[in-house]
Formats: sequence, structure tokens, C-alpha cells
Amino acid sequence: MCGIVGIVSDKNCCDYIFDGLRLVQYRGYDSVGICQKDGMQLKIDKAKGTIEKLVQKVEPLQDTKVAIGHTRWATHGSVCERNAHPIEGKNREWVVVHNGIIENYQTLMCEMQKEGEVFKTQTDTEIIANLLSFNNYQNPIENLIWAVRKLQGSYAICAVKKEQENCIYAAKYKSPLYAFCNQDIAMLASDPICFPEGDYYKLEDGELCEVKKGEIKFFNMHGEQIQKQQLKYQKIRVMADKGSYQHYMLKEIYETPEALERLIKNFVNFDFKKLAKYKFKKVKLIGCGTAYHSCLMGARYFIKYLHVDAEAIFASEFRYDDYVINPQTLCIFVSQSGETADTIAALEKAKRKRAKIISMTNVPYSTIASLSDVVLPISAGVEIAVASTKAYSCQVAGLYLLVMALKGEKHFNRAIKQVQEVILASKNFFVNMSAFAEDISQKEKVLFIGKGCDYITALEAALKLKETTYINCSALASGELKHGTLSLIENKTPLIVISTNKKVHDKVMNSALEAKSRGAKLYLISFKPPKICELENFDFCLSLPKVCQPLLCILAIIPLQLLSYNVALLRGLDPDKPRNLAKSVTVE
Ligand code: G6P
Repeated sequence: MCGIVGIVSDKNCCDYIFDGLRLVQYRGYDSVGICQKDGMQLKIDKAKGTIEKLVQKVEPLQDTKVAIGHTRWATHGSVCERNAHPIEGKNREWVVVHNGIIENYQTLMCEMQKEGEVFKTQTDTEIIANLLSFNNYQNPIENLIWAVRKLQGSYAICAVKKEQENCIYAAKYKSPLYAFCNQDIAMLASDPICFPEGDYYKLEDGELCEVKKGEIKFFNMHGEQIQKQQLKYQKIRVMADKGSYQHYMLKEIYETPEALERLIKNFVNFDFKKLAKYKFKKVKLIGCGTAYHSCLMGARYFIKYLHVDAEAIFASEFRYDDYVINPQTLCIFVSQSGETADTIAALEKAKRKRAKIISMTNVPYSTIASLSDVVLPISAGVEIAVASTKAYSCQVAGLYLLVMALKGEKHFNRAIKQVQEVILASKNFFVNMSAFAEDISQKEKVLFIGKGCDYITALEAALKLKETTYINCSALASGELKHGTLSLIENKTPLIVISTNKKVHDKVMNSALEAKSRGAKLYLISFKPPKICELENFDFCLSLPKVCQPLLCILAIIPLQLLSYNVALLRGLDPDKPRNLAKSVTVE
């Protein structure tokens, strides 16, 4: 799931590409590259690592009128300059950037090698560049159609042809691609946040385009020109600006209260009557990563407050495994980006089974939003750090509000308002965890336990900590500790105990003490200050401010998100860009 930007303009092409790449690097950031075109001259520069490294390296050509850029998340071939895009075909006749996976590239490569073609990279993308050069039709769009017809898998492709003046050719199938055009410039990008203010186009699967200054022509796979509607510009442009914060992750954790405020406003204005016509017997909540954890929380709300059979499922499992889905099933897809490939595929499967589809996403123009019957925006505001923080809190709060609205509760937003106020009031209180972070930063394994909702918080906290610090973390339902994982406890193994439900507090404590007897070092996040007799058992205790019980989980995750952030810093890591990961996973 790489990031693509392309531009046709009389001036500043490289600057547009660099600015765009900075905005799409959430899609992958292991290497980066640009191809500039000045007349028949094509110049390619690449760098392993950051965009700034590339910026240092690139000398703009005298009169660059076309450029394509790419930020990579490696799928095929190691992370190195050679495998970074743009990738050239034979004799540099065509140069391409690509997002997606070409599943049959090895078969195609073998066929082409038999014809004498030489491949210089380990990427699946090189097959596209070589196919384009192989069968050089007069009309570049015909050429592109011929090439993409041979591909299986997913692609968003931007390609430039040496012998064609000031033009980019593009094709899209199952990977996002957007286009923009005004009098001065024309652009293509994986995300419309790269575009200047103005309406833009969304390419659909099987569509291609030819982009020139001041003009974009769209085509279908038969080579026929098609007309497309522009999408209204929404204020989506983000400044890559951390304000006074050192990192996006910290900024975004602190933005949780304002994000919750926006969520409440949106939900108050939302017409829930749209949902009243849905008569569902079962609910499936589907997502990946952090979004899956909010699905787990949401399923609990459906069961507890609506007494409906609800289940959270990983999108990557849902798309291949057997589930009973029919028109009486309500499927809720949760995705921050709205572009996660597994979640999209799961949604398409649910649609084929005629389930009712609600999506909860942070990106209203995303693919997932466009495929859903009803879209509930979480309105968390742009999230740039790879580790999702404020979006998780908004997803959980949004699912709670949805359940309350379906239950017919009036004033359902009051509880969230209270959470928002409490977080604002507790800002300094949460930060004071340096000794805790210091201690955890020395460890190579950390365990988390909780029961019910707290088990879900434990899962999310463990994911956050491993993601940002590379410490091996596991989360367990507290009662399960003794059924195997207790064997991991050694002298001073850290066990983080989450307990926000007084009904089961003593049970969670029992499990914690069983671990303590075997050497574990205990840290407690709880709904109440520990009793004097409990204090001696814990190296760190944090009691959460009071809010309504089902929403305590939103309060509980914030100090744990801050813990992950602080431990990453103590280990000398960049919490915004953990190794090997990407924020938006648009490949399977
Ligand atoms: C990636 C991100 C995670 C995120 C998951 C699902 O793995 O690194 O932070 O939770 O994708 O993303 P989505 O955009 O669908 O919520």
C-alpha cells in the first residue's frame, strides 16, 4: 500500500510531488522516488528512507513539466533503492509507479523472460513497466489497456512514456486513485489530500485516464472515453504540522477530547430514522487491527444494551471463512482510513449476501464509505501517526452512541460529553507516568490482563505497546493466565492489570496475585484507588476519574497510549513511524 502522486504543470513539479509524498507517506515509508520528465528526458531519483533524503538528492531538470512520485511499503523485494519506484521498463520507454499487488507477476515474468526480457528489480511492478514497453501500441491508452488486461491482483498505476509529451497515463483496479485538474495543473494521487482546493475525481475499478495540463480524459477498459462526475471538495487538506508537539502520536492522543466533541455534534445531527427500517436479528462488527478492537467493544454494547446476538470478526477472516450472513444481518464495518483492503473485501462479501451495511470511518470520501448503505463518520480529524489513538476512542464512543440511539435513549450524548470533560480535566494527571515508562522501557516482554471490556483494553494496549516499542506484548483475559501463559512469568516480568468493573475486580486481582507469587511485577490501572492492603502488591497504580462504567474503557486506554509513546521515546524510536508498518493497509 504505497503512496502515489503525479503532476503535469509548467512549474514546481518537484515541489508538488514532495508535498504530496509527505501527505501520503502514511501509506508506507520505507523508500521513496521520483521521475521527472523534461521533453524526451526522463530522470529518476530514489532514496531508501525518508522523503527528506530524496529532497536533498533531487536536482530539478531545467524544464520539468511532468513528474510522478512514490512512497513505498515493500511487498515484493527487499527495501533498497533498486526496488523503490519509479520503475522503468525496457530502454526506459515507460516509467511507472504502482500501488497494489500483481498476483500473477511470476507467470508473466517467466513468459517475458522467454522472449528475452531482462528484469532488474525484485518487484511485481517491473512487469507493468515491461509489458508497457513490450507491445508499444500507437495509442498509449490502448497500450495501457493491453497491459493491465494481463494483470491479476490490484493496482493503481501512474505511468509516463518517454516519447509522449507532458502526459501521465493511469489505471485503477482495487487500489485507490484520484485525479484533479484546474487551468494550471493536473494531478493524480492515492489520496485527494494531496490536491489543491477544488473539486476532484475518484477513479473506479477498470477506469483509466490520460492527464494533461488543464485536461483529464477518462476511459473504460474498451478504450471508450467516459464522462465522470466531480466530487465536491471537502475541507480535507491537512498541513503536515505537529504544532508544538514533538510527534503526531502525542498530538493525536491530546486531540481526543475535541475529536469526541465533533463526534457528538455529528451524531446529534445524524438522522437515526434511516436505521429504524433495518430489522436485524444479528450483528457482525468487522475490522482490522485497532478497528477490530473497537468492534469487540461494540459487540459488547450490542449484547448488553440491545440483547442482540453480536460478534466481532477480523476482516481478514471474514472474507474467507464461513459465517451465516443474510438480509437479517447487520454488518458494521469499522475502519479509520476506510481503505483497508481486507475490510473492503469483507464488505463486498457481506453485500453479496445482502446484509445491511453500516460503516464507521474517519474518511467520508473513502471506498468503504462509498460502498455502505449508511455511513457514520467518527470525525476524529486527520490521524497521521501509524498507531491509531484518538480514532480508536472515537470508534468506541461512536459504537456506544449508535447502540444508545438504536435503543431509543434520549440525551445519549451526555455520557460521552462527560468523558470528554474528564479527559480535558485529567490532562496532567495522565502524563505523570515517567517512572512507569522508564521501568517498562527496560523490558523485553510485557503482559496485560483484564476481564470483559478490560480484556479488550488489554488487547489494544498490548498492540499499541508492541507496535511502537517492539517489546513482545501479550494480552489475556485474566482468568486465562493460569491456563498456559503463567509459564512466561519470571522474576520481575511486568504484568499490567486493567480493572474498571467493580463486579469482577476481586477476580482480576486474584489472577494478578497468582502471577505476583511467581515473581511478576504488577502495575494497576483501576476504576478506584487501591486499598491500603492492595498497594504493596503494585509498583504503579493509576486510578481513573469517575465516568459512566461502559465508557471507562476510553479513559483506561489513554494512559496506556501515553505509555507506549513514552516507552518508544525512551527506547530511541520514532513512535510515528514504527518499522515495517503503514497506517493504511491497502493490500491483502
Ligand atoms: C493498519 C494500521 C492500524 C490500523 C489497521 C486498520 O494495520 O497500522 O493502526 O488499526 O491498519 O486500519 P483501518 O484504517 O481500517 O482502521
